[in-house]
Order: sequence, then C-alpha cells, then structure tokens
Amino acid sequence: MKNAIVFGATSGIGKSLAKLLVKDGYKVAVTGRRLELLEELKNQFPNQILIKQNDIQDVDEVEKVFNEIVTEFKVIDTVIQSSGVAYINPKFEWDKEQQSINTNVLGVTKLYTLAYNLFKKQQFGHLVGITSIASIRGNRSAPVYFASKAYQKAYLESLFIKTKSIKSNKVFITEIRPGFVNTAMAFGDGIFWLVPLEKAVKQIYTAIKKKRRVAYISKRWRLVAWVLKIVPTWLLKKAT
Ligand SMILES: NC(=O)c1ccc[n+]([C@@H]2O[C@H](COP(=O)([O-])OP(=O)(O)OC[C@H]3O[C@@H](n4cnc5c(N)ncnc54)[C@H](OP(=O)(O)O)[C@@H]3O)[C@@H](O)[C@H]2O)c1
Repeated sequence: MKNAIVFGATSGIGKSLAKLLVKDGYKVAVTGRRLELLEELKNQFPNQILIKQNDIQDVDEVEKVFNEIVTEFKVIDTVIQSSGVAYINPKFEWDKEQQSINTNVLGVTKLYTLAYNLFKKQQFGHLVGITSIASIRGNRSAPVYFASKAYQKAYLESLFIKTKSIKSNKVFITEIRPGFVNTAMAFGDGIFWLVPLEKAVKQIYTAIKKKRRVAYISKRWRLVAWVLKIVPTWLLKKAT
C-alpha cells in the first residue's frame, strides 16, 4: 500500500484529491484546521485515513505533524500541498496580507522543504504543489495572493532543478496551475471558465499520475498563460 499526505484536505481540491488517493488504494494523512471535516473523512474511510489537525501558519507545528505522519507511515510516496487562502484586498488590510503570507509563503515553504528533504533521504517521492494561473503576472485587487503564487511557482521550479543532485532520479516535483475551480475559494458570481471541482480534480490527478512538471487546469489556461507572459505591463494596467 502506498502512502500520501495532503495538506489542506478539509475542503475543495485537497479534499477531493484525498478521496481519489483513497480510491486508488493509498493510505492518506489529511490536514487542515477544521477538525470536524477531517473527522468526516476519517469516518468515511476509517482504514485509510489518518487525521492531523494543523494550522500551516505555525511552522513548528507543521514540522511536528509531518514527522508524526512519517513515523506512522514509515515511507511517504506523495505529498500534496493544497492549503491556501485568497483575499480580494485592494486596500491592503494588514491582517489579510499577513495571513496570506504566513499561509501561502511561510507555511508552504516549510512543507516544501520537509517533503524535499524526506524524499532526498528516501531517494524517491513526489511533491505536488497547487499554485495558480495567478502565479504568472501581477494583479491590482489581490497583490499578495498573486505574489504568493509566483513565489510558490519559483520555489517548486527551484526544487525541480535541485533534484539533479538526487542520484536515484526518482524524486518528482509537479506544479498544478488551476484557473478558476468551483470551490469555496472561487467566490463571486459570473466567474468565466469556472471548472466544476470534479472535472478539475480528475485532470489534476491525471497530471499527478503522469508526473507532469507543470499542468494547467483546465488545459485552455495554458493558452491564457502564454498570452499573459508576453503582454506588456502597460497593457495589463489598461486592460485589468
Ligand atoms: N478554487 C480556485 O479557483 C483556485 C484557483 C487557483 C488555485 N487554487 C489553489 O488551490 C488550493 C486549494 O484551494 P481550494 O480552491 O480547494 O479552496 P478551499 O476549499 O478554500 O481549500 C483551502 C484549503 O486550505 C486549507 N487551509 C487554509 N488555511 C490554512 C491554514 N492556516 N492551515 C492549514 N490549512 C489551511 C483549508 O483548510 P482549513 O480552513 O480547514 O484550515 C482548506 O482545506 C489553494 O492553494 C488555492 O490557492 C484554487
């Protein structure tokens, strides 16, 4: 039986990926702050789910929880990092900026490094980070979210480059860049190209199984990314 950890598995993409892993025969450790939602998963799949309540903003706790899971499972095949917060925050309300940095940057970095070091020691493993199409360029309404996703994108690319030093060639780094997926995070009506959660997670899972370096969800966002990369900043300022 294979073992996986999903950070941010109480809802949305992380929860659905955890369920797919269970269906595929994995034992899955699930984390997040909302204990009752973790317990729901445990009740559904008592023999395959290990729950660890966790606030990823507390990096000491992230390390403690991660090590407890490793001790219990012995080896870890896959780590999926899906936890994240997103606020529309045009006025830079500081508590939202700080929470976003502590969650999407500080906590996520801790997890990435723990996973990388473990996989280097094991000489195998697959780290999957859920970033966003927001990683490509800046944005006036949610600068900290867009910046945090750009950070995650660069960090995962760096880890991928760093795997060169791992002799086995069996450590993989995958970055998933969703557009809009129908979860609690994609708030508001009239969002274009909003992909149903089930469809998005199916595509994400396929990309994980194929050990893709980068995958856009849905695939049409690859084209948007290509355009975004070449659009000059003055046009971005005018058009958005
Ligand atoms: N939905 C979209 O349109 C979209 C688009 C692009 C990228 N993404 C990315 O996809 C990932 C998953 O988001 P989602 O759409 O599935 O939204 P979601 O349903 O709101 O899920 C977010 C997850 O992150 C966890 N989380 C947030 N803060 C946390 C903290 N301090 N400590 C531990 N866990 C925390 C939440 O758990 P608790 O609240 O229980 O702690 C929850 O499980 C995020 O990284 C997001 O940036 C989403």
